Amino acid sequence: MNLDLSYALRSTGAARAFTADPVDDATVAAILEHARFAPSGGNRQPWRVAVVHDPAMRQTMADLMRPVWNEYVGANAVGSTPMAFGRSIDAPPIATPNALLDQIEAIPVVLAVAVDLTRVALMDGHLDRPAVTGGASVYPFCWSVLLAARAHGLGGVITTFLSRAEPAAAPALGLPRDHALAATIFLGVPLHQPTKLRRNPVESFTTVDRFDGAPFRG
Ligand SMILES: Cc1cc2nc3c(=O)[nH]c(=O)nc-3n(C[C@H](O)[C@H](O)[C@H](O)COP(=O)(O)O)c2cc1C
Repeated sequence: MNLDLSYALRSTGAARAFTADPVDDATVAAILEHARFAPSGGNRQPWRVAVVHDPAMRQTMADLMRPVWNEYVGANAVGSTPMAFGRSIDAPPIATPNALLDQIEAIPVVLAVAVDLTRVALMDGHLDRPAVTGGASVYPFCWSVLLAARAHGLGGVITTFLSRAEPAAAPALGLPRDHALAATIFLGVPLHQPTKLRRNPVESFTTVDRFDGAPFRG
């Protein structure tokens, strides 16, 4: 199935609710077959993917993600960016249903995505702030998974809650040494594929020459 690239880029929203239609492994393989062409630093392709079929493993993942979700909702309720750099979370967690986690066994596809840190050049790893450049070698791959899924008539969402529980999740998932959990991706036939996306206009984030420069008008 072909999807116009421009349309796909502008209209691939997060889908979190899916029909009961199963997605077979051949389709998952076809999606990964496209996503593997994603860019990465030095073309080292440091991603690893676990296609999580086992209901017990899925439950373990959901049990680890649920407290993180509640923590996120609690922080969000007091208006802060949850888990933001330089901020401590002073809000209590709020127990909140989350269909992705509460019905994880029924989700057609659950992918755990890891990154091999020994194959990532962490250009900003020495700075006195959280390193961000390493993610650039795995998140384009994750986004390509979503775009390829869309081209197969599927929808989904990238989530990162499991990374917060990595110490407990790592042994459960058999995460190799020196690997980090980058994302859990949920896929399926979307009940509703959001296509009208709310995104900020170019002029709100683009300036000329410097980040404090004149607005870029195009
Ligand atoms: C790095 C990253 C982490 C995300 N983590 C979560 C998450 O933990 N749970 C979730 O439901 N959605 C998660 N999302 C999905 C975002 O909430 C979604 O992309 C954003 O709200 C835009 O939604 P829209 O595409 O429907 O407009 C994440 C997306 C990204 C790119």
